Formats: sequence, structure tokens, C-alpha cells
Amino acid sequence: MKFYNREKELNYLKTYCQLEPNSILFVYGPKSSGKSTVMLKVIEELNKGDDIIFFYYDLRRYATPTNEEFLEIFFEKSDKKYLSNKFEFNLKVFKFGIEENFDFNNIKLNNVFDKIYEGIEAVVKEGKKPVLIIDELQKLKNIYFNHGEKEGKSLLNELFNLFVHLTKVRHLCHVICLTSDTLFIEEIYSNSTLENTSKYYLIDWLRKGCVRDILKKEGFTNEEINYAINYISLPYEIVDLIENKKLGLSVEETIKQWINIEKDKIKYLMDTTELDEGEIYNILSKFKDKININYYTEVKKEEMKYMQFLIKNEILFYDVINGIIKPTSVKKWNAIKELINIYKNK
Ligand SMILES: Nc1ncnc2c1ncn2[C@@H]1O[C@H](COP(=O)(O)OP(=O)(O)OP(=O)(O)O)[C@@H](O)[C@H]1O
Ligand SMILES: [Mg+2]
Repeated sequence: MKFYNREKELNYLKTYCQLEPNSILFVYGPKSSGKSTVMLKVIEELNKGDDIIFFYYDLRRYATPTNEEFLEIFFEKSDKKYLSNKFEFNLKVFKFGIEENFDFNNIKLNNVFDKIYEGIEAVVKEGKKPVLIIDELQKLKNIYFNHGEKEGKSLLNELFNLFVHLTKVRHLCHVICLTSDTLFIEEIYSNSTLENTSKYYLIDWLRKGCVRDILKKEGFTNEEINYAINYISLPYEIVDLIENKKLGLSVEETIKQWINIEKDKIKYLMDTTELDEGEIYNILSKFKDKININYYTEVKKEEMKYMQFLIKNEILFYDVINGIIKPTSVKKWNAIKELINIYKNK
């Protein structure tokens, strides 16, 4: 599998892992921008040394977990405080250990947190640096311990307290959380537990110059590059373009297919929602002549419902830190522009 560019992002994250832990890091960005891939590359490269121990959990692998499943994902029964995660074949990453007789069905959240703490302390005592990485963290959102949703404790909120303690208070362990859910980032951003305790890092689209260089190296002609450059923003699009070229599809054909699929997805969404079609088109029309809009000056309160619908369905990406809303990809932007034209002439 090829890995394109991302030098800046790799350097940032590699350096970050080696600094003293001071805050929780949230890595966010448009759908499929390459967040998980960059993080895995960081683990792979830093694993060449032997001073960092990565506790890595990719929650996308699992169906939305229940309490017991959360415990089974995070821990493994063992007499060690931490141990290698044997489910990750190609990756040297670790899991927290828990005693053989620990009863997963009858536990208190504090006991669970003690186990995480003990695992991390064991790493530190060995003179190594623990780094805890959770991908798709928002999947833990609806887990409650003790007595169900009303009286129970939200796992995520309690975890955030633990993470603040591990980072900002005790400087023991890095905590890096990745998410593709930007509305979740907004929730986190306004969560008072995390005020002054979190950092945010955006993994965004590939820059135009970078796309141009990659396509050139991959042997595309200038004509092909000049055409493709107006549509590509995500790494997997380059992979798809190369693959399709081998399969006999021209750059133009591949891109036309992409746009048609995107248009179809948006139209299907509009046809199956209860929300007013005209209002949704009004929101999309904001992107008629530009790719970004400013959340603070260009979105009215009464438009938020439609905007959130488009963000939730990954048509738009809301960058809460920079106050910007844009389509999730340049390809999506082109599909949106074509749809607006069709709607206008209806
Ligand atoms: N730098 C890269 N070079 C080559 N391929 C890449 C690169 N980054 C990502 N990809 C490919 O793009 C696809 C999406 O990447 P990835 O899953 O890392 O994105 P993501 O931002 O984590 O997505 P999501 O928002 O769904 O979590 C994958 O098929 C991956 O292999
Ligand atoms: Mg991901």
C-alpha cells in the first residue's frame, strides 16, 4: 500500500508523541482525509525505536459497543498489567491487562479506570512512554455505567476526566483521539471538562501542489493532471484514479463517474428526508461560487437545522476550530454545483 506525502502531519504527530504529555489531542478532519492512515504510520515509524508503548484502539472495527463489550475491547485477562494486542496482526500495539477472575458483568467504573492507570504506570516505571490512541472515539458516546442513562455515569465523560488527569495533571501519558464526526468535535469543544485541557489537529485535504506532484510521479500527463487537479482532494481518490487507469478508464471517465455517484447520493438524501428540499438547496447554494463559508457570518440560526443535516450526512464538513464549513471533498463540491444548476432550471 502506497503512502503519499503527509510529511507535515507525520512530523507534527511524531513530535507530539515525544513531548511531555500536557493535553488531550483531538485529531479531526473531513471524511476520508487520511486521519487513521497517518496515525498508523506514526505508530509504525515510532515503533522502530523501543521507548514508546502504543495502546491503540480502533473502534470502527466493532459494532457500537455495550458496557461489557467496551471492557472486552479495552482489556485482556492476564497477570500482566499490559500486553501485546494479538488482534492487530501487522502492528505492535498493546492492550491493558486485567486479572483472570475480574467479573466484567459486575464492576464499578473506578475499578476499570484503576486498571488503565496501573497499565500506564507499569509502562512509565519501565522507563518507557505510553501513548493511548482511540480512533472513532464517538462510538463510546452512548455507554452508561451503573444505572442506565438517567442515573448512570456517561463513560465518555468519565473517561475525559481520566484523560485530563493522565495528561494535564500527571503528565503520564499522551491521549490522542481521532474522529470523523465533526458534530462530535463541536460537542467536545464546548464541554467544560475539556476547557484548557485539549488541543485540536486538523488533517485536511491534500494541497493542490501536492496532488500535482503525486500525479506527476505516478506518470500522468500534463493534460490529465490539469484536468484532475480541479477535482481531487483526498488520497484515496489518487489511488482510485491510478487503479482505474490500469483498468482502462481515462481520468475524465473516472471523475465523471465520481461526480455522478456523489450527485446521486445527495439527491437520494434529499428525496428521503422530511426536511424541506428548497431550504436544503438554499444551503447548498452558498457554495455556488466558493468552496468555504464562514460559520459565524454566513449561517443564520434558522438555517442550522439544514446545515446540521448536511454535516451529519457527510455532505459538508464543519471545521469548528476555524469556524469554516465546506463540502467534504472538492469532488463533492463539484457535485453540489452541478445539482444547484439542475435545481435552478427545474
Ligand atoms: N497518505 C495516504 N497515501 C495513500 N493512501 C491514503 C493516504 N491516506 C489515506 N489513504 C487511503 O484513503 C482511504 C481513507 O483513509 P483513512 O481511513 O485513513 O481516512 P480517515 O480520515 O481516517 O477516514 P474516516 O473519516 O472515514 O475515519 C484509505 O483507503 C487509505 O488507505
Ligand atoms: Mg478514520
